[in-house]
Amino acid sequence: MTLTLFPLVLLTFAIIVLTQYIFRYRERQADKAISERHGCLPAPRLQNQRPFGVDRLEQIFRADAESRLMELFLFHFRQTGSTLEQKFLGTKAYGTIEPANLEAILSSNFKDFGMGPRRAITFPMFGDGIFTQEGAAWKHSRDMLRPQLQHKQYEDLEVFRQAVDDLIGLVEECNGTIDLQPLFFRLTLDTTTAFLFGESVRSLITAEAIGEQTFATAFNTAQQWVTKRFRLLDLYWLINPPEFRQACKDVQKFADQIIDRNLSPDGVSNDKIGRASFLDAVAESSSDRDALRGQIVNLLAAGRDTTACLLSWTFFLLVRHPHVLEKLRAEINETCSGSTNLSRDDLRRMTYLQNVLKETLRLYPSLPVNTRTAVRTTVLPTGGGPDRKSPVLIPKGSAVAFCVYSMHRRPDLYGMDAELFRPERWDEDMPLHHNPTNLKWGYLPFHGGPRICLGMDFALAEAGYTVVRLLQRFQTIRLPETELVELVGVEKQVMTLVVSIKDGCKVDIQ
Ligand code: HEM
Repeated sequence: MTLTLFPLVLLTFAIIVLTQYIFRYRERQADKAISERHGCLPAPRLQNQRPFGVDRLEQIFRADAESRLMELFLFHFRQTGSTLEQKFLGTKAYGTIEPANLEAILSSNFKDFGMGPRRAITFPMFGDGIFTQEGAAWKHSRDMLRPQLQHKQYEDLEVFRQAVDDLIGLVEECNGTIDLQPLFFRLTLDTTTAFLFGESVRSLITAEAIGEQTFATAFNTAQQWVTKRFRLLDLYWLINPPEFRQACKDVQKFADQIIDRNLSPDGVSNDKIGRASFLDAVAESSSDRDALRGQIVNLLAAGRDTTACLLSWTFFLLVRHPHVLEKLRAEINETCSGSTNLSRDDLRRMTYLQNVLKETLRLYPSLPVNTRTAVRTTVLPTGGGPDRKSPVLIPKGSAVAFCVYSMHRRPDLYGMDAELFRPERWDEDMPLHHNPTNLKWGYLPFHGGPRICLGMDFALAEAGYTVVRLLQRFQTIRLPETELVELVGVEKQVMTLVVSIKDGCKVDIQ
């Protein structure tokens, strides 16, 4: 019986292999036709020393352990080209820091790219929310969240006041050297919850009581594992240790607690500033508790870490560039004449402040690197061939990583001093301005196209308000003598989904 079946099994197997072969062959032929039609040529190849590109993974893990991952990426692009091809665990993948290609990925060919394994990689932590969704579900979330994040919801800046008052109180108690980075993470948790739930968790004054410490630790742990899963791309499932699973559970528990505390039973509450509660509005459009929790965790992640990193890097840079700090102080004094009742107009009028934030996000974009995966064979407009100007074919299923951190440091876009922190450059004529595509797509801390950040204005208002209030209250903010003064970009960094400062943002403050 078994022997009689054997030829049948063999035949079935042979048919499957042959069908696969024919399918792949046809796919390759179709790709070739697209390539010829567009005049595509290969992008320069990042050289591997070991089979299957194992050395690339080794380099990434080592650079990460040494807290200098972005330096490695920058080096690879400089060494190879602004668009490159790489072997990654045996699969071909692409990297680009070319504005025209970013335009294609994020906007003009938006439909050709998807999130790839992002949803599966991050799902245990993020659940179902705007960051992990695509297609109709994503559009539904975006349509629901956009009106909630409009600037009229925080026009008077009141949503930031209490948290910044709490921060100032904490700093006053210390009166000496202080690490601002962990405080900024608490500040942004407080402002985000104030905004989302109408009431802040006030982690700056009651960190233990509200379980912020557990949440923050769990959130960081979960994010660290998510980052490791990202590095393995399709093999992400190999990383799923108990520590990761527990951290995800803790994050969700925290979200559940705040939902339970703040969701009004009849769904029609108004918050302290009189608007219908954001949470109630999101609850109304979410199908069940899992969906609501997913959106909340997504928004907490979006609102907390990104803006905390922006604030931390801003002060990190300011104390290392005292002339910039003094110029900023002068602008604040002139615009506000000592009043802490700031308005959005005051913030808008402070153009140097806007330049400082813009320059910080250029050098340290909170989300420094990202990927998309081609859902069908497509073309990047530039980067191939000997002159690196020919279109590049991206076969279906290939991952394309884009590193805005490296793009923002390109001398041909920002000038020979691109590595320096110099807010004044934003009032000058930069190479970036000489080409409309570069101008629109060469500076992308908030991305662009249909999935552009929904919290951009909120984040800039929050960061601007916090910087002004701290500078108004503390006349001395400077670099402690014990701190190293290093070249910008050489300091140690921690890469999770965001990039933060390994040794914190220590300042002498009075
Ligand atoms: C300096 C602060 C911030 C930076 C640099 C930043 C940057 C970004 C970036 C790069 C993306 C695109 C992610 C991707 O598609 O892969 C994004 C998306 C998003 N951001 Fe922000 N963000 C910041 C603050 C905020 C804040 C404060 C909120 C809300 C309170 C927010 C809400 C969102 C949302 C909802 C999305 C998803 C948009 C979509 O997929 O359609 N962001 N952000």
